[in-house]
Amino acid sequence: MIKTKNNTLFFDGCDTVELAKKYGTPLYVYSENDIISRFDELKECFTEKYERTRVAYAAKAFFPLAMAKLVDDCGMCVDVVSGGELYTAIKAGFPAEKIEFNGNNKQYEELEMAIEYGIGRIIVDGLTELDIIEEICKEKGKTAKILFRVTPGVQSTSHDYIVTGKKDSKFGIPLDVIMEQVKKAIDSEYIDFYGIHFHVGSQLFDNDSHLQAVEIFLKLAENIKNEFGYDLKEINLGGGFGVKYVDEERKPASYFIEPMMERIVNYYEAAGITRPNVVIEPGRSIVAEAGITLYTIGQIKDIKDIRKYVSVDGGMTDNIRPALYQAEYTGVIANKAEEEKTETVRISGKCCESGDILIRDLQIAHPERGDIFAIFSTGAYGYTMASNYNKNRIPGVVFVKDGADRVVVKPQSYDDMLMNEIL
Ligand code: LLP
Repeated sequence: MIKTKNNTLFFDGCDTVELAKKYGTPLYVYSENDIISRFDELKECFTEKYERTRVAYAAKAFFPLAMAKLVDDCGMCVDVVSGGELYTAIKAGFPAEKIEFNGNNKQYEELEMAIEYGIGRIIVDGLTELDIIEEICKEKGKTAKILFRVTPGVQSTSHDYIVTGKKDSKFGIPLDVIMEQVKKAIDSEYIDFYGIHFHVGSQLFDNDSHLQAVEIFLKLAENIKNEFGYDLKEINLGGGFGVKYVDEERKPASYFIEPMMERIVNYYEAAGITRPNVVIEPGRSIVAEAGITLYTIGQIKDIKDIRKYVSVDGGMTDNIRPALYQAEYTGVIANKAEEEKTETVRISGKCCESGDILIRDLQIAHPERGDIFAIFSTGAYGYTMASNYNKNRIPGVVFVKDGADRVVVKPQSYDDMLMNEIL
């Protein structure tokens, strides 16, 4: 979706310098075609290849109303992790039965909301959550379809903050206490027990931990069958498929999905039992590369014999990932997109924080004040983790498709920021 023409960067057919002029910077820009093609890839290798499979897009990666609509239009389900994400989905007209709810400390009111709306699945993550769900269902005369998120106890390779499947984690129910929870769920008249969920980590490039988790799931399914005579109806394999930020080699979704499906299908065929539904929950791999951020270059500081700092009009407030995870990005001067890259610079933000660096070392064309700088692959966990630190405003979001652009989130105004403050 990224191209250059006449020394200018184009994204899904739109001139990014024109976009910066039209809407101002910083600006998040998303290619709708890129998002659609990621979902198409999953249809091809997963939902249309195997029956009784679903994709529940992980809303935490990027989820304004327009994204909720796009996810629905593409025929996908959605995974939410808070009352706010749930509310967004409902406001966008997302069918309640296609919403799944994760989270390690769901609040009473959040669960009430979910049960009231009649959402598709609640993924129970906590030892007393089932009691709360039962209490609410009893009061409202409803039943809830649930899965248990387990900690498979496998180690995956990624930044420690985004590794979630290991035993020492706040996420998931430990395997040594899962059987009593399962029994409770099977016995409850308010609970429709579907199965097991795991999510081993994020930004992964090998499928080892997913495959290990599948083995643990199969063993658990067997134990549940032997002990309670119960066949699980569903397995949720989580997300975590890695994307390209700088020079990582992105693997096709089938690299993760195919071997897991093969193992699951073969196991159930051999056992002569109906295979459970299979669900995946990708977030990053759908939107990361579909998003870029446009900035305007301001002050340039050349420290003799040390380095050149090129400051842009955003920073850790619109992309916390470099400061939080030492995440790496690349970018280009959008109005000098075809010029020779002659300088190594540090791209810094405008926040009062030395760690507010977006890119530590990057080769770019000669930078000047007023140039438009584009950072690539900012579509996942940029906008959703944005903050008002230093009372910087959160940028707007524009969707582009085949040369057309439309605003889907207006840039925040100073008044929007002060809306809830009382003098
Ligand atoms: N399902 C569950 C239960 C999860 O916890 C997550 C991510 C996902 C699905 C989606 O994983 P993905 O496909 O996006 O890797 N803020 C961090 C990422 C945190 C991910 C947390 N859980 C970052 O910016 O890297």
